[in-house]
Amino acid sequence: MKQQKMFEEKIELIHLESVLGSGYENKVAELALLDGVAYRAARRNMQIHSAIVLLINGEFSGFFTYEVNHKVGEFCLLQSAMYPEKKDKEIYSMMIDKIIEQNTFGYPMIMTVSNKHDLENPKVFKERGFKVNLEKSDFTYMVYGELSQVRVKRLCHMAMTNLWNSTTGEWLKIKREWNDKIEAAGLKYNIPNPKFASREGCWQGKSGMSNVVLSKQKVENDEIITDKGKDLNGNASVLDPALCEIIVRMFMPTNGCRVYNPFGGGVQMGFVTGGCGFEYLASEIRQNQCDANNALCQDFYNVKWIKSDTSKFYPKQKYDLIFSCPPYYKVEKYIDYDGKSPEGELNSLSTYEEFRDMLFEGYKNAISVMNDNTFFVVMTGDSRDKDGGYYGSDAEHELFFKQQGLHIYNKIIYLESEFTRRATAKKTLNSRKYPKCEQRVYVFYKGDTSKIKDLFTNVGRL
Ligand SMILES: C[S@@+](CC[C@H](N)C(=O)[O-])C[C@H]1O[C@@H](n2cnc3c(N)ncnc32)[C@H](O)[C@@H]1O
Repeated sequence: MKQQKMFEEKIELIHLESVLGSGYENKVAELALLDGVAYRAARRNMQIHSAIVLLINGEFSGFFTYEVNHKVGEFCLLQSAMYPEKKDKEIYSMMIDKIIEQNTFGYPMIMTVSNKHDLENPKVFKERGFKVNLEKSDFTYMVYGELSQVRVKRLCHMAMTNLWNSTTGEWLKIKREWNDKIEAAGLKYNIPNPKFASREGCWQGKSGMSNVVLSKQKVENDEIITDKGKDLNGNASVLDPALCEIIVRMFMPTNGCRVYNPFGGGVQMGFVTGGCGFEYLASEIRQNQCDANNALCQDFYNVKWIKSDTSKFYPKQKYDLIFSCPPYYKVEKYIDYDGKSPEGELNSLSTYEEFRDMLFEGYKNAISVMNDNTFFVVMTGDSRDKDGGYYGSDAEHELFFKQQGLHIYNKIIYLESEFTRRATAKKTLNSRKYPKCEQRVYVFYKGDTSKIKDLFTNVGRL
């Protein structure tokens, strides 16, 4: 039980525009070094920032530093400390409240706290009105404001290097959020199995692992019954909506609003683009795919798939971001309502070279409608020829875009779950083939790379 204090303490909270020049520099530095966790507040280059100083009965007892970043539009809480013998959650909370008062700008206030700290921890900040943006091992990234204001930070933490690991808990959480929305649209507009709609004919092998893993099956009267309304996807590749969100939010310029996808495919990229408040146009050669997607996305403004052969399709507007996940040669078969591949469908072309040339024709048309200083993102994966060697499609992509005058700006590896691939390995390692558990996300850029910093959202403090 907390003891009754004998004398009322006099608590003063003093606001400093900058620690430097306030007369509190050494006191803040001493306590910062003693505290250990807040040691950075001892540095001169950190003391340029603002602070709340705590006096108890006239004695320096603690501090909380912060920085307002007007360029990004955010308010960052930095380091805090109290002398061990003065530590008190209520008084510490008063410092937080005093900082909140300083945010007269309506910026999101961000703070990284440690789950192990006695005061600077998620529980204390939650009680002051902060929300959890992201949890990572021992740290919690919190925000006072709307989570939507710091969504990009969450995505950046999920994908901080060029290895995008789609199997982490955080990634799966975002993926689930989008998939739930797609499922809800499916229910609303009566499109069964909306994540895979119209892809039933995309064939990778009937007994492929993803069929076994994803389908819902039960045994009835000695028979295996498969619930086709559930996850069965006939092994069709389905784009990851979390990946789509990272691409849309990271590679759309601040004043941009339009995405073009030259090889439309499934609903995911359009749904996410619409969900993020942007417009979307896709050229897709199958009517069944266009119909399902257009039905699912009818609540969004100007999100649409047009049935067209991309090599002959010339969009009428300019675009701020191009994204495509085109066919990977002969990996899938794409069929329309009549059970046939439409004429011009890339995977039905008889040689890889014909396929590549038509694909690149489609890219050329797309490049011609890019605004300057915008990105062209391609998710691609190589496939093997009849002798088991790779076609070299990844390398050809790089060279093609370079020849078109774009910069090869990022080469990202999208890591899939290895689970199903390990089963394949048992069959293939004797012929020294390692099963692929990644795809590439190439990010090409058209324009002056020195402008990227100014034209795209600044992600602020991470
Ligand atoms: C790999 S899929 C897209 C995969 C996509 N990531 C998804 O989630 O569905 C490629 C799409 O390109 C379409 N396609 C093939 N040839 C085309 C062409 N010449 N013009 C337009 N679309 C084409 C196929 O019908 C297929 O839906």
